[in-house]
Amino acid sequence: MQTLRVALGTKSYRIVVGAGAMHHLAAYLRRAKVSSRIILITNPIVLELYGLNLKETLNQSGFDVAVLSVPDGEEFKSLESAGKLHADMSEALADRNTTVLALGGGVIGDLAGFVAATYMRGIPLIHIPTTLLAQVDSSIGGKTAVNHHKLKNNIGVFYQPRAVFSDISALKTLPDCHISNGLAEIIKSAVIGDRTLFGLLMRHMSRLKEGDERLLESAILHAAAVKARIVSRDEHDTGIRNTLNFGHTIGHAIESVSSFKVSHGNAVAIGMASAGRIAAHMRLLSAHDLKCLTSVITDAGLPTSIPDINPQDVLAAIKHDKKAVNGMVKFILPVRIGKVVITNNVTQDMISKVLTE
Ligand code: NAD
Ligand code: GLY
Repeated sequence: MQTLRVALGTKSYRIVVGAGAMHHLAAYLRRAKVSSRIILITNPIVLELYGLNLKETLNQSGFDVAVLSVPDGEEFKSLESAGKLHADMSEALADRNTTVLALGGGVIGDLAGFVAATYMRGIPLIHIPTTLLAQVDSSIGGKTAVNHHKLKNNIGVFYQPRAVFSDISALKTLPDCHISNGLAEIIKSAVIGDRTLFGLLMRHMSRLKEGDERLLESAILHAAAVKARIVSRDEHDTGIRNTLNFGHTIGHAIESVSSFKVSHGNAVAIGMASAGRIAAHMRLLSAHDLKCLTSVITDAGLPTSIPDINPQDVLAAIKHDKKAVNGMVKFILPVRIGKVVITNNVTQDMISKVLTE
């Protein structure tokens, strides 16, 4: 079990990573002297796999746990679900000292985080991420949100958890496509800020994919540390936190043009490879580093280009990106493995060129 810290002054918190991390929660809650009332927010899949067991452990330690289960799926990350959770929490007599446990992937984390942030103007929140993506990305940094009016994450608040418990054992039941989504974010973290992690990925990708716990713990810790460092410097995403969008500008456009048939991980992988090719054309990135980036993505079983999508459609979707200013979009480009720059100097011709390569 290893621990790292997200340094945010009085809002600082610990991330505990390791096999069985979830079972350290009861001891943590006792030490933290939290109130005995707990609201466990999860979905039916994760409840069955881990939630019931966790509830039992917490009950045995003297905590009174009310389980609130939200149906599985992105469409339930909504204001309606949040309202229902608020009502169920009132019914369960949750008060200002009640702690919310968010047990699940990024959907549950974002929704339960939003609910904890807004119930009685904010009550304690602990993330227990159970997907690889949630362990390396969404549980860290305090972005909470629901989707609304056909727009993704457009209602939300920054709200930091009190702690994060990333239990690597939970990844054993995670379907392969969700392991790939997480691997794409780990590659992202390596490229934006951790050459050592990138080296680990180059050497050990196949064992990581097989679920080697020692390697997974190391990769998750490194990736979480990259995000923790960036969030500590720019909690509210006004500057350097934008670099966490590496691969996501083109990635989000591909997801939307494919009507979400291309998974998030695949889309981000194509986005990262495309950003690498743009950087190489602009003579910002060496041919050697581009080759390393492309081969790590391929080794992870992720794609580097889009066969069945019209690049012009992707270009049109990029122009509608909510972060676009006068049709120019902020791009995060790698200048070497472990370092990226933020630029809005990428032309549409350049984007078309790399998408057709
Ligand atoms: P998800 O939460 O939908 O989980 C993926 C699937 O895996 C679901 O069906 C879930 O029920 C299941 N699952 C979860 N844990 C499991 C386990 N251990 N074993 C078996 N099945 C399990 O998807 P996700 O990829 O974790 O999260 C995506 C969401 O995260 C999106 O809504 C996205 O907007 C959000 N996100 C937020 C941030 C942030 O900073 N807040 C960052 C990135 C993504
Ligand atoms: N996932 C991007 C961020 O947390 O800023």
